[in-house]
Amino acid sequence: MQYQPIIEMRYRTVLLILGLNLNLLGNTESKDCPPGFMADGQDCVDEDECINGVICGSDATCINTFGSFECSCHNGFRSFHTNNHCLDINECLEPLQICSNNSNCVNTIGSYYCQCKQGYIQRGSSTQQGHCEDIDECKGNAGICGVGGTCSNQEGSYICLCNPGYSNYGRKQAQCLDIDECITDVCGVGGTCSNQEGSYSCLCKPGYSNYGNTQARCSVLTCDQFKADKTPDLAVPGLSGLQSVMEKNCLALSNSTGATPTGEILLKNVTNEMDSLLSHGLLGNSREVSGFLGTVENAMRLIAPQLKNNRTNITSEHTECHLAVRRGQTPPSGPISLANEHARLDTSWETATGKGAYQGFAVAGLVIYKTLEKSVNNSFQDLTDPTEDTKPSYQIGSKVVTALVSNPDTDSLDQAVLLTFKHLQIMPESEQINYTCVFWEERHGQKEGGAWSRRGCTKVLSNSTYTQCSCVHLSSFAVLMALYPIEHTFQLRLLTWVGLSLSLVCLLLCILTFRLCRSIQGTRNTIHLHLCLCLFIADLVFLAGISQTQYKGGCGLVAGLLHLFFLASFSWMLLEGIQLYRMLMLVFNSAIRTRYLYAVGYGLPLVIVLISAATYPDGYGTKEHCWLSLERGFIWSFFGPVCAIIIFNAFFFVVTVWRLVQKFSSINPDLSRLQKIRAFTVTAVAQLCVLGSMWIFGVFQFQEEGTLVMTYLFTILNSLQGALLFIMHCLLNKTVREEYGRLLSCVCTQQKSYLDYSSSNPSSSQSQGTKGDQNTGESNI
Ligand SMILES: *[C@@H]1O[C@H](CO)[C@@H](O)[C@H](O)[C@H]1NC(C)=O
Ligand SMILES: *[C@@H]1O[C@H](CO)[C@@H](O)[C@H](O)[C@H]1NC(C)=O
Ligand SMILES: *[C@@H]1O[C@H](CO)[C@@H](O)[C@H](O)[C@H]1NC(C)=O
Ligand SMILES: *[C@@H]1O[C@H](CO)[C@@H](O)[C@H](O)[C@H]1NC(C)=O
Ligand SMILES: *[C@@H]1O[C@H](CO)[C@@H](O)[C@H](O)[C@H]1NC(C)=O
Ligand SMILES: *[C@@H]1O[C@H](CO)[C@@H](O)[C@H](O)[C@H]1NC(C)=O
Ligand SMILES: *[C@@H]1O[C@H](CO)[C@@H](O)[C@H](O)[C@H]1NC(C)=O
Ligand SMILES: *[C@@H]1O[C@H](CO)[C@@H](O)[C@H](O)[C@H]1NC(C)=O
Repeated sequence: MQYQPIIEMRYRTVLLILGLNLNLLGNTESKDCPPGFMADGQDCVDEDECINGVICGSDATCINTFGSFECSCHNGFRSFHTNNHCLDINECLEPLQICSNNSNCVNTIGSYYCQCKQGYIQRGSSTQQGHCEDIDECKGNAGICGVGGTCSNQEGSYICLCNPGYSNYGRKQAQCLDIDECITDVCGVGGTCSNQEGSYSCLCKPGYSNYGNTQARCSVLTCDQFKADKTPDLAVPGLSGLQSVMEKNCLALSNSTGATPTGEILLKNVTNEMDSLLSHGLLGNSREVSGFLGTVENAMRLIAPQLKNNRTNITSEHTECHLAVRRGQTPPSGPISLANEHARLDTSWETATGKGAYQGFAVAGLVIYKTLEKSVNNSFQDLTDPTEDTKPSYQIGSKVVTALVSNPDTDSLDQAVLLTFKHLQIMPESEQINYTCVFWEERHGQKEGGAWSRRGCTKVLSNSTYTQCSCVHLSSFAVLMALYPIEHTFQLRLLTWVGLSLSLVCLLLCILTFRLCRSIQGTRNTIHLHLCLCLFIADLVFLAGISQTQYKGGCGLVAGLLHLFFLASFSWMLLEGIQLYRMLMLVFNSAIRTRYLYAVGYGLPLVIVLISAATYPDGYGTKEHCWLSLERGFIWSFFGPVCAIIIFNAFFFVVTVWRLVQKFSSINPDLSRLQKIRAFTVTAVAQLCVLGSMWIFGVFQFQEEGTLVMTYLFTILNSLQGALLFIMHCLLNKTVREEYGRLLSCVCTQQKSYLDYSSSNPSSSQSQGTKGDQNTGESNI
């Protein structure tokens, strides 16, 4: 510090000079000396003011000068002009900080010192030359934080860092003491807590497990879920391998004594079991599907916490499993997503953990079944919305997946999970296709073990390749493709109406012709009459009733009538085949008795329909059409006889044609008769082709995957069969043509006599001898 405490007492100097002059002027007269001088005899000599030592006080040094004195302040003092006192300087208040940051400045009279703060120690002098150094409290002071803590020195201080299981309860410099974790319910109701120095462990009671993590809550195990259903009706035999592996593992965990294999080995075993189950073909029914999906979900939930790794992916021939596990003292958080190329699950660890007591781990899993979709390509009965007027047909549109989390309350999640599915087929977006998100809803203890349901799942977005679903519960999911009936229904309906009406008119004309035209009476005519009659009734019922699905009983009746009359039309065709053969083989008396005709023509179909109705009455009438159900092969009660008749007739025709050829080449053929039979055969074959092929397309008509072309062909053939029969049997028949010509000319000329003639005609037409060869031939045949 540089400052000048020396005071120059100039006024005394001035006085001294003045006094000296005065002294010089009146030297003789005055013995008084000016201040600062004192008389020494006649002379004034300089007075030494410092001699008495008090004049400057204790804080300054007195310096005598000629005629005066000076007070020079000591270090640490400063003088002020107002008086000649020196005052102490407070160095601590100086703008320039004199002590280091780790010390406090203390002012003293005439000086100061730097006092080290707590936690610092003085090195060197206590003024600016010295400094305060941090004391390392941790050094050589092992016990300072206790056994459960680590001392950490800090600038001017220290803190105790407590090891897990210890705490100093917020007092940073206190010893860390063991926490008694057992005071709180860390092990849950299923566990016994034992506190240890710095730790604790949970011993799970039988029926509970913490999956080898001794510091986790014991969660309840429900090993019964892996038991095969006791009811023999409801047991799923194929599942027993999978169930027994899981039950064994569950019991071993439950007793916490049995040595359990690692989760990885178990998972491998379970995927093998799943593969062997799936490779044995399809899961036969919805109950088996429910059992399988449920068991897989439960198994994965049990296996996942036993896995060592955080992330486990395992791929086998039929499945792909992705499991993610998080363990730790605190519930995990953040997003989690599991995916393969077919499906993706996006959720959060919070959702996976759930709201309940934290079990010490959280799991999220996604199982993708590579081949299951064929087994679950049904069970869509819950999806049809009765208010919708166009009922779509459903089919599976993605792989089936099981999504699972450790949260036991998966029935209603707080936050929806996102599932993204890749479609099995990439279909251009169109009005006819609507993707819908569904899950497999299990129905325990019921005949129908489960079905697809939309509940709780909504479609977020969908394009040609992907559909994204948001679901508020978890189980097994898929995307279904809803195929809406093709938009051309109006045209189709119009075509059906116009065609069937035309058909009905033609059939009516045929019936009238066969009934009234006396010149062609005979067995073939009777057969044609009844064939047309059956087709007429069938078409009429078809036109009026095929879509009346809203009346359950009525619909069944319509289906029954259609079954009966379409079958009858085929059985009359069978009779025609037989008759043609007889005509060829038996020259005389080829007519079949009418009662035999009726027995075969109507009796046979009636018996088939009665047996069918007795065995499976529900088979009559479906949701889409009033026709035979496709379930349980019921449709074969129609197609079976039809196929048999077609094959039978085809055989007859081949034989007939063969015999015909033989007869033509015989030595003396009855040419006119044979030509007639040839014409009949051609007609019969054509007829069989028209009716038979119509039903070939009809096979597809009533099935779900009916294509547009098939539908049109069926409709056109169905509509035109009447017209074709009319053309073949009436217009192309010379006798009938002549009969028509007569009738027409009669109508044209409006001659009553003609009408009389035709009405009295029977008598003449019955006398076959008077008629030409043709008539004779016709009636003989
Ligand atoms: C002392 O503290 C002041 C402010 O608190 C800071 O600006 C200065 O750099 C510190 N000096 C030393 C030597 O740490
Ligand atoms: C587990 O304990 C139960 C009784 O608590 C016993 O019935 C069962 O056999 C035991 N299972 C195993 C695998 O030790
Ligand atoms: C699964 O493990 C059980 C024993 O726990 C064993 O009997 C079975 O053969 C294993 N199955 C497969 C497919 O590895
Ligand atoms: C599992 O995840 C936790 C937290 O994300 C991490 O600390 C740990 O190292 C991981 N363990 C393995 C085996 O990857
Ligand atoms: C497992 O699959 C996920 C995708 O779900 C992938 O991100 C991860 O890297 C895979 N992990 C292993 C170990 O193969
Ligand atoms: C599901 O069934 C429909 C017809 O019912 C069929 O067209 C489709 O190919 C089937 N899908 C699968 C994946 O088997
Ligand atoms: C698709 O289905 C949803 C209901 O699942 C319906 O709201 C929507 O209108 C349908 N879209 C089409 C094009 O039919
Ligand atoms: C379909 O949507 C997915 C995401 O949901 C997207 O990644 C993909 O590019 C989309 N595809 C098309 C053809 O738009």
